[in-house]
Amino acid sequence: MNMKEEKMDQNKLTIAIVGGTGKEGKGLAFRWGKAGHRVIIGSRNLEKAQLSVNEIKDLLPPFSKLTGETNESAVKQADIVVITVPYEAHRNILSSLKNELKGKIVIDVTVPLVPPNVTKVQMPMDGSAAQEAQKILGQDCKVASAFHNISYDLLLKNTPVQCEVLVCGTDQQTRQTVLGLVKDAGLTGWDAGPLENSVVAEGLTSILININKKYNSRTAGIKITGIESPSS
Ligand SMILES: NC(=O)c1ccc[n+]([C@@H]2O[C@H](COP(=O)([O-])OP(=O)(O)OC[C@H]3O[C@@H](n4cnc5c(N)ncnc54)[C@H](OP(=O)(O)O)[C@@H]3O)[C@@H](O)[C@H]2O)c1
Repeated sequence: MNMKEEKMDQNKLTIAIVGGTGKEGKGLAFRWGKAGHRVIIGSRNLEKAQLSVNEIKDLLPPFSKLTGETNESAVKQADIVVITVPYEAHRNILSSLKNELKGKIVIDVTVPLVPPNVTKVQMPMDGSAAQEAQKILGQDCKVASAFHNISYDLLLKNTPVQCEVLVCGTDQQTRQTVLGLVKDAGLTGWDAGPLENSVVAEGLTSILININKKYNSRTAGIKITGIESPSS
């Protein structure tokens, strides 16, 4: 374990959520705020970030450490950065934050949906959004991907979630760190292997959207069977 990893005490992480004013970002902010992490909601607009903080703070205990900043300022202060933006904004936002993201773990939640046909799997040239992120950010960042299959509806509720989380990532240590955050969010996570495997997790989202439409649901999800529970 190097000095930076030692410093990264899992109990005291500062998590920045780029695009945290959106549906998925607010859901994750709520979950990690409840777990006691310091969460910074990032936005292109400071006022919008602070409005989102007020919305979520109403759902959280009074001691919660939740603030709102511009994306750039949020990323600078964070140990871990979560990307929750629509796919069409993905490349630009990562390129614009590349310097601030150096040396950090980046958890990409982006699904490469191509409207209007979001029920059809349409993966990008580089394989997946997560692989694109790694290519844009280079080897200075440890990229992981997770939470693609969890609807924000479920994240923002205080009830147990049956849908499980596939975590892909650059290396095992990065995936372990992210799995810790999945657990803190009150969810079950699985080490789904290297970043290349993110193609499957991201692609599954279009299938789940299709199932939601076909069967009149909002929260279709996935569950790994055949194992009692993941062990580390
Ligand atoms: N919603 C879900 O249930 C769900 C589930 C799993 C995965 N995902 C994935 O998570 C990502 C976010 O989903 P979402 O539903 O939260 O999206 P969203 O609400 O439509 O947007 C999230 C945030 O992205 C920022 N944004 C929008 N356009 C941008 C642009 N051109 N440049 C920079 N930032 C921009 C906005 O923040 P500011 O205006 O404040 O900057 C917005 O609040 C997507 O890739 C989605 O596929 C979503």
